[in-house]
Amino acid sequence: MGGVIESSATPQNPVGAGRVGPAAPEPLPTPAVPVILGKPTSASRITLSHIMSAHDTNLLGTVHGGVVMKLVDDAAGAVAGRHSEGPAVTGAMDEMAFLEPVRVGDLLQVKAQVNWTGKTSMEVGVRVVAERWNESGPGEHVASAYLVFVAVDAEGKPRQVPPLLPETDRDRRRWQEAQIRRTHRLARRRAIVELRRERAAEGLDG
Ligand SMILES: CC(C)(COP(=O)(O)OP(=O)(O)OC[C@H]1O[C@@H](n2cnc3c(N)ncnc32)[C@H](O)[C@@H]1OP(=O)(O)O)[C@@H](O)C(=O)NCCC(=O)NCCS
Repeated sequence: MGGVIESSATPQNPVGAGRVGPAAPEPLPTPAVPVILGKPTSASRITLSHIMSAHDTNLLGTVHGGVVMKLVDDAAGAVAGRHSEGPAVTGAMDEMAFLEPVRVGDLLQVKAQVNWTGKTSMEVGVRVVAERWNESGPGEHVASAYLVFVAVDAEGKPRQVPPLLPETDRDRRRWQEAQIRRTHRLARRRAIVELRRERAAEGLDG
C-alpha cells in the first residue's frame, strides 16, 4: 500500500516538509450557498435616547417631524447594521405616524427592533416614547414607523441577511404583521408599475 505525505508542520513551518505517514481525513464538501445562522430579536434591539432642544422646533414651537424621522432612521439603521453584521441602507419608510407633539426638553426614547427578515431585506419597527422633562411616569407614545432596510455589500449590491428568530409572542405577532405589510408593499409596487406600463403603451403621460 502506498504511503501518503504525513504533515510535519511546526510553528516555524506551518505547511510541513514531506514525510510518509497515515492519510489525512477528506475535507468536508463546501455548501454551494453559505449557511447563515439565525439571530434572535434581542441581539440587535436598541433604544436611542435624545433630549430635544430649541434647535429642533418648528414654527409652532414643538419639535419638527423631520427631526423625529431622522432619529427613527438612525435607530433603525443601527438595528439593521447589527442584525446583518454589515452595512444596510434604507429601502423604504412607511406608516410613519405622529401621534402626539414632542416638546423642547422632552427625553425621546427611540426603541427599534427587527420585525421580519427576507433574503436580503429586513423590516425594522420603531416606537418613539417621550418622557416629559417636568413629569415622572412611563412616558407617552408619540410616534411609530416601519422601515425596510436592505443589507448591501461593498459594491452596494443586496447581500443575504441572517434569518430572524423571534423570541416572544409579541415578536411573533410583529413578524406576522410585518409579513402582511410586506405583501401589501410589493403588491402596491407591482400595481403601480403595471399601471404606468399600460398608460405608456397608450401613449399617455407624455
Ligand atoms: C435598496 C436597494 C439596495 C435595493 O436594490 P435593488 O437592486 O432594487 O434590490 P432588489 O430588487 O434585489 O431587492 C432587494 C430586497 O429589497 C426589497 N425591496 C427593495 N425595494 C423595496 C421597497 N421599496 N419596499 C420593500 N422592499 C423593497 C426586495 O423585496 C428585496 O427583498 P428580499 O431580498 O428580502 O426578498 C437600492 O434600491 C438602493 O441602493 N437604494 C438606495 C438606498 C439609499 O441610498 N438609502 C438611503 C436613502 S437617502
